[in-house]
Amino acid sequence: MTSRYRDEHRRSLEDPEGFWAEAAADIDWFRPWDKVLDTSATPSTRWFVGGELNTCHNAVDRHVTAGRGKQAAIIYDSPVTGAKQTITYRDLQERTALFAGALADAGVKKGDRVLIYMPMVPETLVAMLGTARLGAIHSVVFGGFAANELATRIDDCRPTVIVAASCGIEPGRVVHYMPLLNEALKLSDHQPDHCIVFQRVEEPAPLKPDRDIDWADAMAAASPKDCVPVAATDPLYILYTSGTTGRPKGVVRDNGGHAVALKWSMANIYDVKPGEVYWAASDVGWVVGHSYIVYAPLLHGCTTVVYEGKPVGTPDAGAFWRVIAEHRVETLFTAPTALRAIKRDDPDAKLMAQYDMSRFRTLFLAGERCDPDTIEWSQRILKTPVIDHWWQTETGWPICSNLMGLEPMPVKIGSASVPVPGYDVRVLDEGNHEVAPGTIGALSIKLPLPPACLPTLWENHDGFVDAYMKDYPGYYKTGDAGYIDEDGYVFVMTRTDDIINVAGHRLSTGGMEEVLAAHPDVAECAVIGVADAIKGQVPVGFLVLKSGVTKTHTDISREAVAMVRDRIGPVAAFKTAIVVDRLPKTRSGKILRGTMQKIADGTAVQMPATIDDPAILEEIKGALKPAGYAKD
Ligand code: COA
Ligand code: AMP
Repeated sequence: MTSRYRDEHRRSLEDPEGFWAEAAADIDWFRPWDKVLDTSATPSTRWFVGGELNTCHNAVDRHVTAGRGKQAAIIYDSPVTGAKQTITYRDLQERTALFAGALADAGVKKGDRVLIYMPMVPETLVAMLGTARLGAIHSVVFGGFAANELATRIDDCRPTVIVAASCGIEPGRVVHYMPLLNEALKLSDHQPDHCIVFQRVEEPAPLKPDRDIDWADAMAAASPKDCVPVAATDPLYILYTSGTTGRPKGVVRDNGGHAVALKWSMANIYDVKPGEVYWAASDVGWVVGHSYIVYAPLLHGCTTVVYEGKPVGTPDAGAFWRVIAEHRVETLFTAPTALRAIKRDDPDAKLMAQYDMSRFRTLFLAGERCDPDTIEWSQRILKTPVIDHWWQTETGWPICSNLMGLEPMPVKIGSASVPVPGYDVRVLDEGNHEVAPGTIGALSIKLPLPPACLPTLWENHDGFVDAYMKDYPGYYKTGDAGYIDEDGYVFVMTRTDDIINVAGHRLSTGGMEEVLAAHPDVAECAVIGVADAIKGQVPVGFLVLKSGVTKTHTDISREAVAMVRDRIGPVAAFKTAIVVDRLPKTRSGKILRGTMQKIADGTAVQMPATIDDPAILEEIKGALKPAGYAKD
């Protein structure tokens, strides 16, 4: 049977240079590349070596030149403030050129870093694109992180300038960004030359005269800057993501491969045409936001929706349907957790009836494993294809998906569909051998990685090799386990490390344990992710206290919860810390986190052969029950 998908996938692996050179013709280059694929620095893969381009030019200026100046580039819709705004491609060009000028006035040059700590407002996109315009490197930090996490990122990427907003707005709560930033700068060794502060009318912040520049003043004083050519292999951005320790990993994204892969994905994966309205209901602080709120839709000449609100409560579970109808959205990309929240509040999606959904074509889901119920419910209420697809911060775009533009395939519920062209996905056992179809193993990608995937970690190449390339020589380790069936469909089942997914947010339980271990009364601790009906998983901590502690367990638990919120941030959703007498361990002293997780989830527990003392499992069960876990 012929299959366009299978032919293209095979071609992308057999002739990657031909395949991606063809895709690269859709990007404007200031200088053509000398070599499409360079594997001489294996395990790093470098794409379009010798080529020069500018990502902001491709995302903005080229569309104005091509006649899209009057088309909306960004639709901003903010139910939390009541604001709505449409920004055309011409407006966006003017604003990014001016903001690039403002950054240059503040001392930013090609290759410098600009850290962006901002909420879901159009100015965040202007700051990212303005940075790219100068050939500088942005690093966006999600607003739900605490000062300590911000400080770690400041010290790691050492920005010349930090761009911040005065505040973010969460339902019922103002997030005071400036005190968080000031606190972070007290904690960090590195200090930026300046901070450019976007003052929101909801809560302007006091500025520090020598350090801070008001965004409006900076724009008023600036002259527009043209796009600066950069090498295809130069970094466009650094995005920090959770690793297995408290130290986040600075994923580096290049300019050339990224532009080519993301542009290709819009037509071939998402089946979207230039001029259409594309909405990724995520946050610019995450990779989904970088790739599918900002870069891919703009590279493709689409209109992107910047939504500052939630799926529920702003004001109700009809919010997504309102945005789709009002802004004529064709494609929505979100995390399954958002659908679960809508389903909880409006199980029959009655609120949808008042909105015109006729233009809506496809729902894409990613960020966590999607439960079959959520897919089936979404299919039933939307009556459109619902596509689960799998990807990571490290790859920047989908590893597996139903290729809706190339050749839609039958949906298999529970699977993220098939490997996207460019990705040679294999399932390996611990000895680096491929396993038979249907057998679970380590999901791995045979090198070379396709364009847009990380070439390294920021100033930590050894860490890159250690984290991704060492365990399975010749392959990239995704950190996910799963299987491939007889038809080539990939099923992503679980992480193989201590990363958990909380409401689509990727978090490290190891990072939380580091915080808890710093509590003066805690001798030992463990954090596990337990199943949650809405968020997919939530963290639960176990604390063993030092002897002689006189404080009550309730007080210590409360302090532990506050410490995680204070050091990592509210996004960790760490609400439960349970004091126990001891932790289950193997005879060699390894904490049995997987067994604890099974007890908490109420799934069948097989007694680990190496357990030190089996009686302890009953104690853990007893400790979990009052918190609503470990149900029989
Ligand atoms: N800035 C500051 N704080 C933030 C924040 C931000 N950008 N985003 C979330 N937070 C805070 C919330 O206010 C909340 O704080 P609280 O403990 O004081 O209530 C905490 O972090 C947890 O937030 P969240 O995970 O959003 O949970 P929620 O209970 O408020 O909402 C959902 C639940 C399912 C509605 C919500 O998680 C959601 O919309 N998820 C979609 C996830 C997503 O887009 N993921 C991106 C990957 S595709
Ligand atoms: P992030 O880097 O935040 O995008 O998180 C990436 C991780 O989320 C992956 O390694 C998976 O563990 C998980 N993930 C993302 N999409 C899916 C999916 N469609 N199915 C299962 N897990 C997913």
